[in-house]
Amino acid sequence: MCGIMGYAGSGNAVPVIIDGLAKLEYRGYDSAGIAIYQDGDLVVTKKKGRLADMVNELGEWPQSILGIGHTRWATHGVPSDHNAHPHMDCHGRIALVHNGIIENYAPLRKELILEGHDFVSETDTEVMAHLVEKYYDGSLEEAVRKALSCVYGSFAIVVISADEPDKIIAAKKASPLVVGLGDGENYLASDIPAILSRTRRVYIIEDNEFVVLTSNSVAISDFDGNPIEKEVLEVDWDMEAAEKGGFEHFMLKEIHEQPEAIRKTLSGRIKDARVDFSDLNFADYLQNTSKIFIVACGTAYHAGLVGRMAIEKLAAVPVETDIASEFRYRRVLWKPGDLMIVISQSGETADTLAALREAKRNGIKVLAVTNVVGSAVAREADWVIFTHAGPEIAVASTKAYSTQLVVMYLLALYMADLRKSYDAEKISKMVTELLYIDTLVEQVLQEQDKIKALAEKYQGVQDTFFLGRGLDYAVAMEGALKLKEISYVHAEAYAAGELKHGPLALIDDGVPVLALITQDKLVEKTMSNIKEVKARGAIVVAVCKENLQEACQECDEQILLPRVNPLLAPIVSVIPLQIFSYYMAIFRGADVDKPRNLAKSVTVE
Ligand code: G6P
Repeated sequence: MCGIMGYAGSGNAVPVIIDGLAKLEYRGYDSAGIAIYQDGDLVVTKKKGRLADMVNELGEWPQSILGIGHTRWATHGVPSDHNAHPHMDCHGRIALVHNGIIENYAPLRKELILEGHDFVSETDTEVMAHLVEKYYDGSLEEAVRKALSCVYGSFAIVVISADEPDKIIAAKKASPLVVGLGDGENYLASDIPAILSRTRRVYIIEDNEFVVLTSNSVAISDFDGNPIEKEVLEVDWDMEAAEKGGFEHFMLKEIHEQPEAIRKTLSGRIKDARVDFSDLNFADYLQNTSKIFIVACGTAYHAGLVGRMAIEKLAAVPVETDIASEFRYRRVLWKPGDLMIVISQSGETADTLAALREAKRNGIKVLAVTNVVGSAVAREADWVIFTHAGPEIAVASTKAYSTQLVVMYLLALYMADLRKSYDAEKISKMVTELLYIDTLVEQVLQEQDKIKALAEKYQGVQDTFFLGRGLDYAVAMEGALKLKEISYVHAEAYAAGELKHGPLALIDDGVPVLALITQDKLVEKTMSNIKEVKARGAIVVAVCKENLQEACQECDEQILLPRVNPLLAPIVSVIPLQIFSYYMAIFRGADVDKPRNLAKSVTVE
């Protein structure tokens, strides 16, 4: 996720900005840039790579009283010098940095080009700089307000102009922004760690708030200019806590970032209750393909299992889902027109990449679902859909998984629409349900304390089982993986109906069994399997949709989920399993963010 830093004061902006950006490095980035005011002009330096590369390029630090800086985590356009922020207007008088996505950038860009504006990057952000230029008539504040009224999407934007070197203008919607209050100097940043060594007095800027900041004043209003009174927050966190946004670990922070990550992944993809992938130009291919191979590793593979069921149900195309390390060495019976979908958070996993290359060697088109723009998978695939989860720092994947699920559903719904393989009304109802699924995730996050208490109770166990049928089985696999990777408790996922073919022998007094119960049509079948384990002494924790609660009365513990379309249930039902694993690891004293023996990105076979 991009990092933003701005400074207005009487000191030197450059070291303040560089230091602030360095403190934001934990957020992940692929390029960095700075714009400062100097002798009536704006001077911009930007560079792909590490912050140190940009600082090298800058040379001797110039003196300046005003500036903005940025570390970019690519979303539109590959990581490169020219895509790095700040972006400028045609005359180099306005400089702007942005975190988020301008959803309607494409039509705006076309319009601005027709009006004579010159674009130098592939970013969505650059349209904002040109819009501010278009509306500039002596007041930067007014120009930014007008520009904002033209765009939709998510943004924290920070703008300066060579013609008004005493101020910084900023606005926020769905991307973080804070103001730091200094003495004769003020700061803007995307996160508290950037300013913590300079001030502990901050304003947390809320959505739809607009900031006019000078060295000795901060005025906050709504987008229409109505003033807003805010309370100063006195921050008492240390640096480490600040990086984690006040959460104890990155994993917990990332679990809580899921509603926002889901919104970002959906952003721009739904128009009039229909899925829109028109920018990818793959409609013809998807319409005619007769077989899909989904290939991935780890958590991404589990997202692929859900994707398979969604695509088969809605789009009526046969799908095979494979673990990449297995797929690459088996004989695959390719046919022309087949499609491979690779799913990879990092876009760099060696086995996934090898499977992609194998498909391409065989003339098969590849669609990549990845979180990292410019990654190997993104570069080599024929088409890419990005999950906009932002960088995931904890080794155990959470928000990457839920956003991968979102993409798989979007794809299944899109294909169903194209191929007329499912009732049109039901498709648009499901699209609308997907649009609101973030609110259901938020509801489940409220259950954190209850789930934490369960983890405390069962922290001493050695073995656990996760059961489910259909989509619940796919989520059970992800739940078991989470638990074993971070808490080191032995966890096995089983298709509930398969229990009596072996694992039932392991069920004994006091063995916890987490049962997923979200599939209305399968609930009775799953309940029979639950009775089998209960009869052998298991303690059953049901993760159950509230409308199915009646059926699972006899389970020992219940975590209730809001009503949700069974097909979309995995996005909601995985949340308690993530929280349970997290607290199990905490109570057992494990290193949650960096589990032993595991790596975030596996670039070896
Ligand atoms: C590692 C990570 C997992 C991840 C898997 C696949 O094992 O620890 O969290 O699911 O790799 O990674 P990818 O980046 O391809 O999704």
